Amino acid sequence: MLKVSAVALKDILKGTDPIALFAFEEGLAGGSFLSPAARKSLLARAKDEGFSGKAGETVSFLASDGSKDRRFVLAGLGKKASSDREGIRKAAASLYKTYKKRFPSLGFCPHAEIQASAEGLLLSSYEFSKYKKPEEGVLLASVLVPWADARERARCEASLAKAALGAEAVFFARDLVNTAPSDKTPLSLAEAAKGLAGSGVTVRVIEKEEAADLRLGSFLGVARGSVHPPALVHLIYKPKGAKKKIALVGKGITFDSGGLSLKPPQGMETMKCDMAGAALVLGVFKVLARLKPKVEVHGYAVMTYNLPAADAYKPGDVLRARNGKTIEVLNTDAEGRLVLADALCLAAEEKPDAIVDFATLTGAVLIALGSSVTGAMTNDKALLARLSSASRLADEPLWELPLPKEYEENIKGKIADLQNIGKVRGEAGTLIGGLFLREFVGSVPWVHLDIAGTAWTDSEKPYCPAGGTGAPVRTVLEYLSAY
Ligand code: BES
Ligand code: MN
Ligand code: ZN
Repeated sequence: MLKVSAVALKDILKGTDPIALFAFEEGLAGGSFLSPAARKSLLARAKDEGFSGKAGETVSFLASDGSKDRRFVLAGLGKKASSDREGIRKAAASLYKTYKKRFPSLGFCPHAEIQASAEGLLLSSYEFSKYKKPEEGVLLASVLVPWADARERARCEASLAKAALGAEAVFFARDLVNTAPSDKTPLSLAEAAKGLAGSGVTVRVIEKEEAADLRLGSFLGVARGSVHPPALVHLIYKPKGAKKKIALVGKGITFDSGGLSLKPPQGMETMKCDMAGAALVLGVFKVLARLKPKVEVHGYAVMTYNLPAADAYKPGDVLRARNGKTIEVLNTDAEGRLVLADALCLAAEEKPDAIVDFATLTGAVLIALGSSVTGAMTNDKALLARLSSASRLADEPLWELPLPKEYEENIKGKIADLQNIGKVRGEAGTLIGGLFLREFVGSVPWVHLDIAGTAWTDSEKPYCPAGGTGAPVRTVLEYLSAY
């Protein structure tokens, strides 16, 4: 795997590794260790090769570094005035993708945003190799990010460590999402979760019998459709001296066929991604003990298949969630809210300062916000503001959607307290999902993130191949780090 480490600039200059720099359309970004004459000749060489600094461009050539000839690599950032952190991630990603097979290592000298630069390299190096030989000859073993002086060293290393932990969490989540649905039963995911136990993290697996004792009737209703038993994993990270407690709840439908309200074949093609919320929670816990945020974190990954087999639950069935609320199931394909209902009850009982849930809940959010923006709904604006600023740091956009009073009537049941779909077909599906979930968090500050659009991509993105994206894992890490 690609490794990014900090090395002193003088050591990079001593060696023969190519040196990679960013460049704006207006000129080099950074590279102040080069003489003005060297910088000028570098740009002239780049221009000869047709490089103009536009975003996405890369170029490689031989030039003098002032003392000897060596290879330089430039990656374009576009116009200086419009350059931003996400542009830096993307430029670093083009750098990695273009030269990964050419150079065994590289002296990378970003002018700023060390963390984002490293994230671009690391995240674009992801490959899912469970079922296929990994790409051969990917030689970029280490990338050297220099610190100019001793004072900068600690800062540089901290940024790189944060980027590496973020990438590790993202890769863990992507791997789980990309895994074939038959290869990730709820119990096997629970086993994977147990593997995360260790220094600072405890893991408890609630299996079917215990779930029944806990009266998780809504969750167990969905699970009846599969011969593979469900599992609800509760992970706890509890650092000494933590003053706040946060609960993260992830939807973990290991395959969503729709159940008896069966999806059409096309709608099912990507439904192995329906456990992305749970994968995100597990990804976060993979790195939490090393990231060391000063906050207690409870993770809930609630896992089951949604299948029309076994003794499947049926439209018309009435389920009773842990908080006593009864739910008339009118559509077995609105199963995510049913499994989350019980998990949210458990989370709320711990009396955390905040609950954040992550769920590939509705196809409607993809229509509303597309595949780059997560839909957010909340009962607490201040909590959402904290998450939003974390999401801006990670450049994983989220956008608030309302929970309108006018629509509350929509989820009131005829013969039960609630029904699991709205009364007007095809209207405000994402908001209805959010309103339904709110019924299970009591008065705890809560944010619901509908990641149905963002957790999966059908086509390659700048630093993510097609498949699971791992979004918004980095947002959560930034959010927790800010406590
Ligand atoms: N898992 C799906 C939502 C989904 C759709 C995720 C597309 C990722 C991509 C969810 O369980 C579902 O089926 N939702 C229904 C709800 C409806 C029956 C109220 C939907 O969106 O159609
Ligand atoms: Mn569904
Ligand atoms: Zn689903």
